[in-house]
Order: sequence, then structure tokens, then C-alpha cells
Amino acid sequence: QVRAPCRLLLLLLPPLLHVWATTSEPCEVDDDDVRCVCNFTDPEPDWSSAFQCVGATEVEIRGGGRSLKEFVKFAGINPKQYADVIRALRVRRLTVGDAQVPALLLFSLLRGLGSSRLNQLTLEDLEVIGPTPPPPLEVTGPALSSLSIRNVSWATGGAWLAELQLWLKPGLKVLNVAQAPSLAFSCADLGTFPSLTTLDLSDNPGLDERGLTAALCPNKFPALQELALRSTGMQTLGGVCAALAAAGVQPHHLDLSHNPLRATAPAAPRCIWPSALSSLNLSFAGLEQVPIGLPAELSVLDLRCNRLNREPRPDELPKVRDLILAGNPYLDPKNSGVVTACERLTQALGVSGSILLLQGARSLA
Ligand SMILES: *[C@@H]1O[C@H](CO)[C@@H](O)[C@H](O)[C@H]1NC(C)=O
Ligand SMILES: *[C@@H]1O[C@H](CO)[C@@H](O)[C@H](O)[C@H]1NC(C)=O
Ligand SMILES: *[C@@H]1O[C@H](CO)[C@@H](O)[C@H](O)[C@H]1NC(C)=O
Repeated sequence: QVRAPCRLLLLLLPPLLHVWATTSEPCEVDDDDVRCVCNFTDPEPDWSSAFQCVGATEVEIRGGGRSLKEFVKFAGINPKQYADVIRALRVRRLTVGDAQVPALLLFSLLRGLGSSRLNQLTLEDLEVIGPTPPPPLEVTGPALSSLSIRNVSWATGGAWLAELQLWLKPGLKVLNVAQAPSLAFSCADLGTFPSLTTLDLSDNPGLDERGLTAALCPNKFPALQELALRSTGMQTLGGVCAALAAAGVQPHHLDLSHNPLRATAPAAPRCIWPSALSSLNLSFAGLEQVPIGLPAELSVLDLRCNRLNREPRPDELPKVRDLILAGNPYLDPKNSGVVTACERLTQALGVSGSILLLQGARSLA
């Protein structure tokens, strides 16, 4: 015979189990309390679930595409009141994504995180709306070393980087901006990035050489060592070189892979490449011959997965220590699959791939 309390339990259990099975917590922390991910997709989400993340060092918060307008009332809170709490947070990496955020709220979040140990910030799939707060009297935001912005639109257009910069302590080393609606920064308002060594503008297929000239504000990136321009719609090496020269940047590494590069016209004006440039990546660029006008000396030149039909002659190549030519048709006359492997890699890259495929179709036509 089953005793009363047990009977009660048996009655209660199935509905409870049912509830547990269908409503998942918006936030989940891993066993080591390192990574905490919140995905607030529910129409009436339980925001308090985010308290689970206080001990995590990597936090990812997604808003389920909702508008965060209702939270703008918190933008006025003086963060000094909570400074001790913020200092106690362990978060080093924060990702905020998938929402419509008032600029007032976003910038007040930055101000609030000023006393935190936050080091890497990623903003992803956001629409930043409404007016920007007045510039702060002093820099109150976090001391980031890395900032990534992917698919974020800003009500203020090209002024966003200059505005954001005012809230960040200097010291930013890495800046990634992908799928940006506008990279035409208002250079007059932009301050210098004295420590920025890596600028990654990859995955902006509509950028092209003109857009690059607008994005690289002259003399704002004096410490630049790496410039990544993967899949940015660049077509001519001369145009890229001219943009670098105009901006006065001196990258050591330049990544131009996954761009539909055209052969340079022999009469095109030559540009002087940055003297520090030692590594150039021209892989997956649809090149049928080694382009004219490469830097005279390089340590690394990556030409893998192009369409070279014969071995490059020494006089076509710059002085280079490490030359990578794998995946070109001339190395694979029997079509044993190397080139196909390159095409598969290209397609796997999505956006980048579609550019090359288009170019491929054009060259077949
Ligand atoms: C968040 O949840 C939605 C809906 O369940 C899902 O489509 C999306 O992939 C999730 N995002 C992440 C980062 O887990
Ligand atoms: C870009 O972000 C918007 C929200 O601002 C979202 O609706 C859209 O799906 C995102 N696009 C991609 C390619 O993820
Ligand atoms: C060049 O770029 C390709 C594709 O983006 C990448 O796979 C490769 O590792 C890069 N080469 C070098 C030498 O970094």
C-alpha cells in the first residue's frame, strides 16, 4: 500500500516533469562556472535568471530579437552606487546580441562596466536606436583590449565609432567590424587609437577600395600591425595600396584573401607599399596570374587556392621566403581533387564564397 505523502508525490510528479521538460531556463552556466549563456527568447522572459552569470568569466546575453526600450529607465542610474558589485563581477568577455537597444542604454551599460574587469566586448546582431547621450566628461567605460562589432546598425550612421571611443579607456588593441552597414567614419571626430595593433574589417563584402579609404581615417591607427580585409570586395591591389598610403598605416601583415582580385593593368600607376609589410595573403582570390605590382620583398606570400595555370616565373614573384602555392590548377593537371577542395573551402565560407563563385561564373562565360 502506498502511503499518503508518496501518493501525493506520484500525483504531482508528472505535471512537474512536464513543466521541467518544456520551459528551459533562459540562462545556462557550464559546470566550471566559466561560461554563462542567456537566450531570452520567451515573450515574458525571466530576466532574473541572469543572476546565475555573476560568477562566470565569459558571459553571452541574447535578447531574442526584442526591443530593450523598456529598460531605458535604468540608463539614469548612477553606477557609483553599484561600483562594489561591479568590481566583484568576474566577467572578462561579454557578448550582447540579438536585440534592439536604445543608445542611451548601451552607453550607460559601458559606463556601468567601467569598474569591471571586462576585457573583451562583442556586440552582435544589434540595432542601436534613439539619441546618443552627451559625451562623458571623463572616460568612464571599461579598459577593453578587444572590441568586436558584427552586424550592428547605428542610428547615428558613421559617427558611431567616434562616439563609442569616447567611453572606452585607451588601450584597445584589437578592433573587428564585420557586416557593417557603414564604415564611412567621421574622421574629424575620431580620436587616435594609440595601441591598436589589429584592425579586422573582414566580412564587409560591399566595402571595396573606396570604402577602405573612408574607413582608414588618416593617422588614427599609428600602431597598426595587422590589417585583415578578407571578403571585402577589393578588386585591385593598386587601390588597396593607395588607401594604405593615404591613411599612413604601416601594417606588417595584410590579409586580402577571399577577394575577387583582378589582374593589374600594366599601365596602372604603381603605388609604394608600406615598408613594414612582410606578409601578404592573396589566397582564394581567383587570380589567373601573379599580379603585377606586389611589394618587392616579403617573408610570406600566400597564393593558395587561386587559378594559376602555370608555375609563376621567378621574375613575376617578389623576393619571398615562404611562398604558398597549393591548390592552384597547374599543380594538379590531372584534377585529382586539390582544386575541388579549395572550392569546397570557398563555399563553406558563405559570403566570401559567393563572391568567388560569381567571379568564377564570369570567367567561365
Ligand atoms: C536562442 O534561441 C533561439 C530560439 O530558440 C534560437 O533560434 C537561437 O539559435 C538561440 N541562440 C543561441 C545563441 O543559442
Ligand atoms: C543582423 O541583425 C538583425 C537585427 O538587428 C537581424 O534581424 C538579422 O537577422 C541579422 N543578420 C544576420 C545575417 O545575422
Ligand atoms: C591566408 O588566408 C586563408 C583564408 O582566409 C587562411 O586559411 C590562411 O591560413 C592564411 N595564410 C596565412 C599564411 O596566414
